[in-house]
Amino acid sequence: MIMTQLRPGVHWVGVREWAKKFFHGHELSIAHGTSYNSYLIVDEKIALIDSVKNEHAEEFLQNVSRIVPLSKIDYFIVNHGEPDHSGAFTRLLAANPRAKVVASKNGAQILKRHYPGAYDVQVMKTGDQLSLGKKTLKFFDTQMLHWPDSIFAYCPEEKILFPNDAFGQHYASSSLYADECDQCEVWQEAIKYFANILTPYSARIIVKVGEFVGLGWPVEMICPSHGLIWRKDPLTIVNKYVEWASGKAQAAVVVIYDTIWHGTEKMARSICRGLETEGVPFRLFNAGTSDFNDVMTEILKARGVLVGGPTLNNNLMPTLVPYLESIRGLRFVNKIGAAFGTYGWSGEGVGRIEEFLVSGGVKIVQVGYRVSYAPGEEDLKQCEVFGQQFARQVKES
Ligand code: FEO
Repeated sequence: MIMTQLRPGVHWVGVREWAKKFFHGHELSIAHGTSYNSYLIVDEKIALIDSVKNEHAEEFLQNVSRIVPLSKIDYFIVNHGEPDHSGAFTRLLAANPRAKVVASKNGAQILKRHYPGAYDVQVMKTGDQLSLGKKTLKFFDTQMLHWPDSIFAYCPEEKILFPNDAFGQHYASSSLYADECDQCEVWQEAIKYFANILTPYSARIIVKVGEFVGLGWPVEMICPSHGLIWRKDPLTIVNKYVEWASGKAQAAVVVIYDTIWHGTEKMARSICRGLETEGVPFRLFNAGTSDFNDVMTEILKARGVLVGGPTLNNNLMPTLVPYLESIRGLRFVNKIGAAFGTYGWSGEGVGRIEEFLVSGGVKIVQVGYRVSYAPGEEDLKQCEVFGQQFARQVKES
């Protein structure tokens, strides 16, 4: 059993999934497992904040029951109705139909879609509060961070923020606290989580963090719904969110390519030599053997992105598509890019790559470089020049 009291009357009652390798179906790779964090506040009234995935409901209900009988809970707070946090909802309601369900306005609708039934939902918006006795829960609307229903709960007496998905990481640990874990792993998981889940909402994040700070609610602990609790310098992760959302990035380049007969690969390596001679750090990824979620994380960190691939079937290489679709969907802020690749007779590949980049908001800063069939010595020199030119754009932008 894993059960920990964070503060008097505030308990973590979540579930870890140590061996999990993918999230959202197979859309998001995870390297260190994950957790579904739920928090129980025991006061004159008892509130349970969020739940866990349906398949972990039994373990979760046991965790809660070891602290209080399910029948004693007064409020089921649903900060976000995505099934990884609401999967035990019907089991909770069956065990205690007397409890009040609390959610945002959109949350009420989403809950009814996932879990049809005759229950009522007490709707909360920014500034609304529930008195539990000595402790209070206040709410802050965070619509589209990252779903229409997302809402934060905040306990002013303990200065604890329960922001659901925001500020989380996919990370399973025997410790509850980020400050007790390997900092390299924790921060890499935090930025990977941001890059792959929250990047599309970057503008919204900046607005919402500003609004929250403006409320003046002091925060000593941030308890997200995945991964570790931020206890030491908890606002560091909040400031990091603003930095990542603002598009601040290193003067560095991510190069992604795939290749059929090594022609585009040779081009990629020569381009990297050009980046190197200009002193611009780079990461080189073969699309066929890399993890696209990890590559998106590196793109978030870097100013420039170069994508290369040969033309195949009058189109681009299919192995590049998950990368390009992710770039298009995530809509990174403030990136520059360019494309390159070999072709035999029709040569559409580079143009198709550029279309994807443009549709993802990447500014194309130089004409794509195409080489017929196989790059010769002079072509590779030109690739190096291409890399040098791009490096200068990265440094100047
Ligand atoms: Fe962790 Fe949006 O669910």
